[in-house]
Amino acid sequence: MKSPNQLPTIGFVYLDHVMRFFDRSNFKGWPDKIEQVVYHWGNDKQRFINDVKRKKITVLIGNIPATAYETFREISRALPEVQFIPSLDAQFSNKSKENVTNFCKKYNLPIPNTDVFYELNEATDYLKQCKYPKIIKKSYGPSNYGGYFVHKVDNFKEAELLIAQKKYYPVYVQEFVPMVADIRVMLIGHKPVCAFWRRPPEGEWLTNTSQGGAMDYQNVPQRALDIAVLASKSANAEYWACDIALGNDGEYRILECATAFAAFPYIRDWIGQYLMWLLAADHFKKPYIPMLNWEELGKIDSRLLRTMRQISFSKPSISEDCGDRLIQQNQELYQLLPIELRAFEEWPSEAWNFQDNYLSKLVVDACQKVMAAKEDSLEEVERGDTNENSPYVDINESALIEFFNSVTGIGKQLYPMIIEQLGVDGTIDALNQNPHLLLKVKGLKEKKLQNIMLCWQKFIALHENNIFR
Ligand SMILES: Nc1ncnc2c1ncn2[C@@H]1O[C@H](COP(=O)(O)OP(=O)(O)O)[C@@H](O)[C@H]1O
Ligand SMILES: [Mg+2]
Repeated sequence: MKSPNQLPTIGFVYLDHVMRFFDRSNFKGWPDKIEQVVYHWGNDKQRFINDVKRKKITVLIGNIPATAYETFREISRALPEVQFIPSLDAQFSNKSKENVTNFCKKYNLPIPNTDVFYELNEATDYLKQCKYPKIIKKSYGPSNYGGYFVHKVDNFKEAELLIAQKKYYPVYVQEFVPMVADIRVMLIGHKPVCAFWRRPPEGEWLTNTSQGGAMDYQNVPQRALDIAVLASKSANAEYWACDIALGNDGEYRILECATAFAAFPYIRDWIGQYLMWLLAADHFKKPYIPMLNWEELGKIDSRLLRTMRQISFSKPSISEDCGDRLIQQNQELYQLLPIELRAFEEWPSEAWNFQDNYLSKLVVDACQKVMAAKEDSLEEVERGDTNENSPYVDINESALIEFFNSVTGIGKQLYPMIIEQLGVDGTIDALNQNPHLLLKVKGLKEKKLQNIMLCWQKFIALHENNIFR
């Protein structure tokens, strides 16, 4: 047996103001100290990274809330030796409903027909001619749970009004699926460990338990478990929850899936046991979690179930198994599996963070004009037989500041922040060829970027006239 100091050094990721999913008690039997690193939001990235390094943490465990997700993708890049559990890729769906949709589309998992619009006029055009009713949801935001940001609209007028009032962006539109109920399946290592029905209150359509939906644990259909397993495997998720709607048409569709979900403490204990086995298989036994355990545990009053801890089962002996072929088959069908350790990023932000990277048509237009202006000046430069051969417009810091001062809406506070964050060269670089990088600066949104790019276009025209004529 390895000595305890050969175990990985675990740290819990905590975030100020965010409920803690795990604590040490979920990792009963782990012989070493478990570290903690707390993210304080704001400008805390580097301090957090340093703290992880200082504590020599090799495995960071915890869910990242949606609004910190992109920052943690950056943090995980800065800590390539550290294993994040769940991996940032597994947490992709935690960030937004748009991400859930993109994840399910990639893996051909069944979902309601969904359209996501970044151009308001495209959303309006669509909503003018689509079939109703539709569901409109907020895709992203803090505490985006419990059906509070999910709305049914019955015609274009209602949809238009809702969009104007709520200002949800992007506009996330889904077909309305009349449903019997939805099913929450929780998985650990791709194995269903808990499943229940959530039924809407009489005459209502929202099934969230926080909105009065009722839960029951009996006869959850196998098809729902199978879809949840497929989703969990596709996400390569250490633990996972999937909400699956059973439509009146008999079809199953995923409504939500994530590694962040509300779970009874005994389930978090099971996750802890699974993770300890995953991290140190020669120290810890793989937990045995019987299939359909929820049908029995679900009979326990939830007030009691909420306080039960470290529930464990012994493996039935072969002779006990013989009587129940179904249970035996299920055990083989639904195994507790290790996840795949991956050296690549499946969902890199450069490709998948549409929210921050999306450039509106106006900005794209402005950028193209900037590029065209530069090409014109390049031709002039070439004709003028100078050595300058780059279409890139380079200016010094004072000219850069002069430029920002000429842009309306860019306050005296914002441009120093831009220059501080991207550097003088980085800022010029961004203006020249990577405008979306400017959106990384806090307080700089689409509208301002649009304005900056329009002004940049005029500015370089002026600037080049001065330089080259
Ligand atoms: N496309 C849909 N058709 C019908 N009902 C829906 C649809 N999408 C969501 N719902 C209902 O609204 C509830 C909340 O939606 P969900 O996408 O899970 O958002 P939340 O993050 O608020 O839980 C679901 O549990 C379901 O009852
Ligand atoms: Mg939900």
